[in-house]
Amino acid sequence: MSTSRRVRLCAGGLVAFVILAPLAWFSAAGAATHPIYQTGRFNAGTPNSSVVIRKHGVITSYGDSAITYNAPSSALAALGRALYLQNCATCHGVDANGVPPAGTTGAYPNLVGLGPATIDFWIESGRMPSSDPRSVQAMRRQPRLTHDQALAIAAWVNSLSPSYPYIPTVNVKDANVANGAALFALNCAACHTIEGDGDALARSTFAPSLRNIPATQVAEAIRTGPGNMPRFTGNLSDFQVADIVKYVTTEIQHPRNPGGFGLGGLGPVAEGFVGLLIGVGGLALIGFWVGERQ
Ligand code: HEC
Ligand code: HEC
Repeated sequence: MSTSRRVRLCAGGLVAFVILAPLAWFSAAGAATHPIYQTGRFNAGTPNSSVVIRKHGVITSYGDSAITYNAPSSALAALGRALYLQNCATCHGVDANGVPPAGTTGAYPNLVGLGPATIDFWIESGRMPSSDPRSVQAMRRQPRLTHDQALAIAAWVNSLSPSYPYIPTVNVKDANVANGAALFALNCAACHTIEGDGDALARSTFAPSLRNIPATQVAEAIRTGPGNMPRFTGNLSDFQVADIVKYVTTEIQHPRNPGGFGLGGLGPVAEGFVGLLIGVGGLALIGFWVGERQ
C-alpha cells in the first residue's frame, strides 16, 4: 500500500468518525426512555416541582403555590373501570389501548400513559365519549359524565400505567394578569386569536373559542395539548400557566372594552366597517343636509 493511499484511508476514517460519532451519540440519547411528560425544568407541571406529596411511596400530589396537581383517588379505580367499559371500551378497547373489540390496532387513540389531566379534560369538556367514531376533531359539548365519574375513569386509566400530569388546581388569585396577557399573545394568539375567539386551522380543524372554558380546563389544555394544540411543559412554568389562565378567565371571558363599544371583539375589519358606516356615513348625511339648505 502506498503512503499516499494510507494517508487517504486514514483521512477517510477520520471524516467518517467525525460524522458518525455524533449521530451514534444522538440516537443513543434519543433511545433512552424518559418518563412521559417529564421535563428537566422545575415547576413545569411534573413532579420536578418544589412540593411533592407521597402516600405509601406513590406520588398523590405535586406542585407549588401557583398550581397544585392532584391524582384522582385510586379508591375510585374500580368504579372507573365499570364506567369505562360502559362508555369508552367500544372504541378505545377494553384495555384502553386503542384497539376496539375485534378491531384493528391503532384504530383509536391509545389512552394508556396519557395521564389523568388528559382523560379528565376530554371527558369534562364533553368531547368524550364521542358520538362520531370517524370525526377528525371531537367537538366540545355538554359533558355526558359528571365530574366524579370523570375522576373515576381517570383513576382507572392511570392505574394501568401511572403517568403525568395530574389534574391541576390553579391559584388564579395570586397570578399576574398583565404577564398572562403578554404570554398569551406570544404562545396562544397565533391559533386562538388575540381576542380568544378561535380560528380555522388546516384540514378542516380549528382552534376553538376560549370564551367559556373553566380555569381547570384551560390549564389542562396547556399542559396536555389536545388534538392539534402543542403541549406546553418545560417552556412554561406553573406560575406562567397560572398567569395565562387568569388572563383567559378574566380579560378574555369578561372583556372590559375601555375604548367604548366592544363590537363583539371581531377585530379591525369590523371596527373599520363601523367607523366607515357611522363616521363617514354620518358626515355624508350632514353634508347632504347642509347642501340642501343652500
Ligand atoms: C365512538 C367512539 C369513541 C368513544 C365511545 C370514546 N372515544 Fe375517545 N376518542 C375517539 C376518537 C375518534 C378520538 C380522536 C378524536 C380527536 O382527536 O379529536 C378520541 C380521542 C380521545 C382522547 C384523546 C387522546 C389523545 O391522544 O389525545 C381521549 C383522552 C379519549 N378519547 C378518552 C375517551 C374516554 C375516557 C371515553 C369514555 C368516557 C371515550 N374516549 C369514548 C373515539 C371514541
Ligand atoms: C398551534 C395552534 C394552537 C396553539 C399555539 C394553542 N392552541 Fe389551544 N387549541 C388548539 C386546538 C386545535 C384546540 C382544539 C383541540 C381539539 O379539540 O382537538 C385547542 C384547544 C384549546 C382549549 C380547549 C378549548 C375547548 O373548546 O375545550 C384551550 C382552553 C386552549 N386551547 C388554550 C390555549 C392556550 C391558553 C394556549 C397558549 C398557551 C393555546 N391554547 C395555544 C390550537 C392551539
